[in-house]
Amino acid sequence: MKSATQFAAAAALLAGVDAFWRMPCKTKTGVARIDPIVNPGEIAPHAHAIFGGSNFGMSSTSDVLLNSECTSCNVTKDKSAYWVPTLNFIHADGKVEIVPDVGGLLAYYLFERQDDEKMEAFPDGFQMLAGDARQRNFTLSFPDMPRSEWINHPEETTQQNLGLKALGFNCLNYAKQPPEPTVYRHFFPDKNYLDANCPQGVRAEIYFPSCWNGELDSPDHKSHVAYPDTINNGKCPDSHKRRIPQLLYEVIFDTNKFKGKEGQFVFSNGDPTGYGFHADFVMGWPVDLLQQLIDHPVCGGYGKNAGTGTLEDCPLFDNIKDEIRAQSCEFEMPKVLEADDCVNNLCGNVEVFAGPEYAPAHPGGGHGSPSGVYTPPPVSEQTNQPTLSYTTPRSAVGPISIYQVGQNQEAPEPTPAPQLHHAAVEGNGKVLSTSTYTSAGVVHEVVVVQEDVYVTVEVDAPSRKRHAHHMHQRHQHS
Ligand SMILES: *[C@@H]1O[C@H](CO)[C@@H](O)[C@H](O)[C@H]1NC(C)=O
Ligand SMILES: *[C@@H]1O[C@H](CO)[C@@H](O)[C@H](O)[C@H]1NC(C)=O
Repeated sequence: MKSATQFAAAAALLAGVDAFWRMPCKTKTGVARIDPIVNPGEIAPHAHAIFGGSNFGMSSTSDVLLNSECTSCNVTKDKSAYWVPTLNFIHADGKVEIVPDVGGLLAYYLFERQDDEKMEAFPDGFQMLAGDARQRNFTLSFPDMPRSEWINHPEETTQQNLGLKALGFNCLNYAKQPPEPTVYRHFFPDKNYLDANCPQGVRAEIYFPSCWNGELDSPDHKSHVAYPDTINNGKCPDSHKRRIPQLLYEVIFDTNKFKGKEGQFVFSNGDPTGYGFHADFVMGWPVDLLQQLIDHPVCGGYGKNAGTGTLEDCPLFDNIKDEIRAQSCEFEMPKVLEADDCVNNLCGNVEVFAGPEYAPAHPGGGHGSPSGVYTPPPVSEQTNQPTLSYTTPRSAVGPISIYQVGQNQEAPEPTPAPQLHHAAVEGNGKVLSTSTYTSAGVVHEVVVVQEDVYVTVEVDAPSRKRHAHHMHQRHQHS
């Protein structure tokens, strides 16, 4: 291994490592069957955990949100709405419990872009969603094919497949260093695997697209935006040439609370597989402020101007943070939903559907027959994909959903996640997160370390040559 100092001159290579900041939204503004993007003006089929501006409701648009009295996120001027499905645990006796989140939702604003590319703030009225609530399968390889290979395999870079690879479920074990890379595993782990390996729970992660065609929305709420060709970096397609900040949501679920208990995890949209995880965003920033943040060398700079990008270090955030108010910020529950229990119930009488077929739509609540037992996609011999098994809860037809967990399938031995070879981390930095990408046959590992300098290290790994970009920064992961 070569030393860090030898490669100090290579810091210019870090042109691709751009600034970012993380917007902590520690408390929910509410949990409800509301989705003003997909089901404007009506009750949504399934529950969401909602964060951000207090004017959230069935018909809230950008301009409504902007007039919110408060936000549950730290920056008072950001009245955007951020939401994801809830995760629930169905006990063996059929009782449903919401799985607590740990620390709410963390929204990353990432400023990755090609050199000299202009980045535009989301305009007023902008909204989008990531993921597909009805998706229940994934047919590409696990782990992902190296990104350098995607170019030779057109199916790897279709927008649909980029979208399926843009989400993941990170098994958290803080005693294990380094942690799993972001969006490494695109399915929700088997409960036995969780019990055995993930004492701090599961972190759901989902990237939004960062390429844009200039429209505020689109009929499917997705096709006005597109992923760049390697999801969190790379080129935008010609149809979506304009660059917007990339959002990445992280929510930690305390699955360990249910360790040793019989039952099944299922997302509020009836998804036990995780392939149907999704996320929504409605713009609620003053546009000029967001643009200033993007253009500021510390807050949003990129390439050689990249600063630390953390809220504390960006002077434009001074005097616009209010953590105390954020903690008590809630939206007003619409009257029609007051009796809806989305905490101790899979509200909307959602059917648990494990696929692999595309899940049926559930306008006004599902009453269909329970789906069959989930069969995982074929696993190639080289991969270590754990065998997944899901029981089939049954929904009682009626106003209240009661779920019964069926006979448990024989539990497979949990398979540990494949070990990646990791670059050595210089200094005493604590590794916060890692992700990998490959270009020109070299595996690059981006390691976020709690320190305050940029270093580039070249490491000779046993099988292949590896560069590690150590993106150091000062923040504790919360
Ligand atoms: C955000 O607010 C929480 C309290 O809700 C506080 O602990 C945290 O330090 C704040 N983070 C930032 C980056 O401002
Ligand atoms: C996988 O999901 C897609 C929808 O994205 C669907 O068209 C396809 O039929 C599903 N595959 C199987 C085997 O059901």
